[in-house]
Amino acid sequence: MYRWAGKVALVTGASVGIGAQITTELAKNGMKVVAVARRLEKLKELAANINGKFKGEVHPLQCDVQKEKDILEVFKWTEEKFGGVDVLINNAGVVSAESIIEGSTETYRKILDVNVLAMAIGSRELVQSVKKRKASGHIININSIAGHFAESIRMPVSVYCASKYAVTGMTLSLRNEIVAAKLDIKITSISPGMVKTAMVTDVFNQMGMDTTFEGIPVLEDTDIAEAVIYTLSVPKRVQICEMVVMPHEALATKDPRPYGTNPQ
Ligand SMILES: NC(=O)c1ccc[n+]([C@@H]2O[C@H](COP(=O)([O-])OP(=O)(O)OC[C@H]3O[C@@H](n4cnc5c(N)ncnc54)[C@H](OP(=O)(O)O)[C@@H]3O)[C@@H](O)[C@H]2O)c1
Repeated sequence: MYRWAGKVALVTGASVGIGAQITTELAKNGMKVVAVARRLEKLKELAANINGKFKGEVHPLQCDVQKEKDILEVFKWTEEKFGGVDVLINNAGVVSAESIIEGSTETYRKILDVNVLAMAIGSRELVQSVKKRKASGHIININSIAGHFAESIRMPVSVYCASKYAVTGMTLSLRNEIVAAKLDIKITSISPGMVKTAMVTDVFNQMGMDTTFEGIPVLEDTDIAEAVIYTLSVPKRVQICEMVVMPHEALATKDPRPYGTNPQ
């Protein structure tokens, strides 16, 4: 991580869950982290718990990634304060337990806006920022096992799966663009299995399921934050393109429950 110490990271969806843990780990590793989400109070709490304790620092900013104007303002603020964004963690995500057969267009649109469109807008701004400064950059997309094995997800989250397949496609095709443009930017997709966060408990609640996670193989948000740090820590010549992170027991037992199936 020494290469990124003192550099600037932007984390979307930083208020809770995986994004909050990624923000914490990046600050521990000496980065200046611009942490964005809609719930500013949560971001301020996070910053208060980190600032002054670690080498890095957290700068909370309110941003609804469904609004392009908000995303552009975050990049402008960061350019004025720090010169630009070096590392972008596209983490903000939403899901809803609604099938395509019976779901609402409003839900489909929200999922695609947050999980796909915001990622494309943010990635474009990161690439432009790095290009302008002739700097190095890294985009990390928080994808999902649902972005590779939709058939193994036994919950009515089909538009979520479609959005995450789009993340897989965007990561691959944007890498081609970056290579063709001869830019020094890496792009990584990290695809977790089930992680114990509000996103999953909300879906379980929607489906009237038990939310204790009793007996269900599950990851912690810290596991994904560590995967991000590893991805950023590899030598400059190495690019982690895709990292699938599953709960160990899920792979071992071919658990048939949601997210628990063996992706192979
Ligand atoms: N949990 C899992 O099992 C799992 C598995 C695979 C992949 N993932 C992926 O991991 C990422 C993080 O998920 P999580 O489990 O940490 O979920 P979470 O606890 O529900 O957190 C979601 C984050 O996204 C933010 N967000 C949602 N809508 C937003 C919007 N319109 N504008 C700005 N921020 C928005 C939320 O902040 P505000 O509400 O404050 O705006 C929150 O910080 C997502 O991309 C998800 O698809 C999760």
